[in-house]
Amino acid sequence: MSGVVVVGAQWGDEGKGKLVDVFAEKADIVVRYQGGANAGHTLVVNGLKTILHLVPSGILRPETTCVIAAGVVIDVFSIREEIRRLKDSGLLQNPKQLMISDSATIILPYHKALDAARESALSEAKIGTTGKGIGPAYEDRAARRAILFGDIFDRETLYKKLELALQEKNFLLEGFYKLSPFKIDDLMKDLEQVAEELAPYRAKDNSLFIAKSLKSGKRVLFEGAQGTMLDILHGSYPFVTSSSTLASNACASTGVGTNSIQKVIGVFKAYTTRVGSGPFPTELHDEIGKKIQADGHEFGSTTGRSRRCGWLDLVALKYAIRVNGITNLALMKIDVLSGHDRIGICTSYKLNGEIIFDLPTSPYDLEKVEPIIEWLPGWKEDLTKIKSLSDLPRPTTNYIDYVGAQLGTPIDVISVGPGREQTLWVKPLFNN
Ligand code: IMP
Repeated sequence: MSGVVVVGAQWGDEGKGKLVDVFAEKADIVVRYQGGANAGHTLVVNGLKTILHLVPSGILRPETTCVIAAGVVIDVFSIREEIRRLKDSGLLQNPKQLMISDSATIILPYHKALDAARESALSEAKIGTTGKGIGPAYEDRAARRAILFGDIFDRETLYKKLELALQEKNFLLEGFYKLSPFKIDDLMKDLEQVAEELAPYRAKDNSLFIAKSLKSGKRVLFEGAQGTMLDILHGSYPFVTSSSTLASNACASTGVGTNSIQKVIGVFKAYTTRVGSGPFPTELHDEIGKKIQADGHEFGSTTGRSRRCGWLDLVALKYAIRVNGITNLALMKIDVLSGHDRIGICTSYKLNGEIIFDLPTSPYDLEKVEPIIEWLPGWKEDLTKIKSLSDLPRPTTNYIDYVGAQLGTPIDVISVGPGREQTLWVKPLFNN
């Protein structure tokens, strides 16, 4: 079976969008399997910038079918905007390019209001969420009261479910957070319009479609959002997102068997970033951190927030390789590290006076660890125009070899800039 999963191996924003766009050339289907509009991919094709939040990056290639799986939480207003923009720019001309699962959960304005209210109530202890309503929507799913994408096409069901939801949400918003309630008639009116616009993209059974496609030899790329360290179960809890970001969730969220997966590609940047609160062992609070932030344009495409920056963390990366079953790696944004005299790589942590090589599972311990940094020589050359691996400066090749050897996992792709053409291939994506 030709299923490949692309998963973020750090705290998100690793460059998965660009990679999926590049890989989509070889794929027939691209599936987005979790998260919501909290993700943001900035893609540059022929110098044109496109920002995607929910629609898989494969949409930039007209012959690719893009699927939004049941495990995604869909802000229907946000996706409508995204679709409108894609249509306006001529990228989405045929509705068959996009299939949205009827079983996906929808995010409504009250989820966003609750997200914001909870964050402000937490004050100093806030998670630093994207404010997109992700947590409250996944809560509804787990509590078995979610409104599904398919529900918006059935007026009667939608009304009943909304009525029930609003009883509780409005009680919380008004009674607990002292905010204005939502009116069912306003929501119904807005949702009716949205349903009309989104109807052409409605897909009743994505799981069956993908199973059949895989069986007939089609190549399917599963695109994760956020990153390993933001996983609800295995990330730096509670400073995580509300879904499982791991590769294994590609199968669970889409409804395909684990035997569909041939490869798991872990995407990581040559350094580390994190948005929002929570532990970040290699964070740099100095000029070097600021230089990486500026050179890497490390500002969120969803929230515009500046990303915290630090050296590459091999302890966290080894953990990501283990918990995802990463078989191959893609190293992104190595061009950003040009211009440093020396480059730091964290190879272990010190915790309570002891050197450790495995990521501590307790978030309190992760808060306390000190990174042990090894230094490698830096390079001054601009890498963004390099077309072949053999043209990379010697210190860059040393850096890549060192990281690959430490991780014991092949690095198949090296990216030297945001454009499709700024991609150096070591090995092809699909085996067949
Ligand atoms: P939420 O997903 O909006 O609930 O946010 C929870 C945490 O995940 C916060 O620290 C966010 O900054 C982080 N987060 C969510 N989506 C992304 C992403 O796409 N990239 C990086 N961090 C993210």
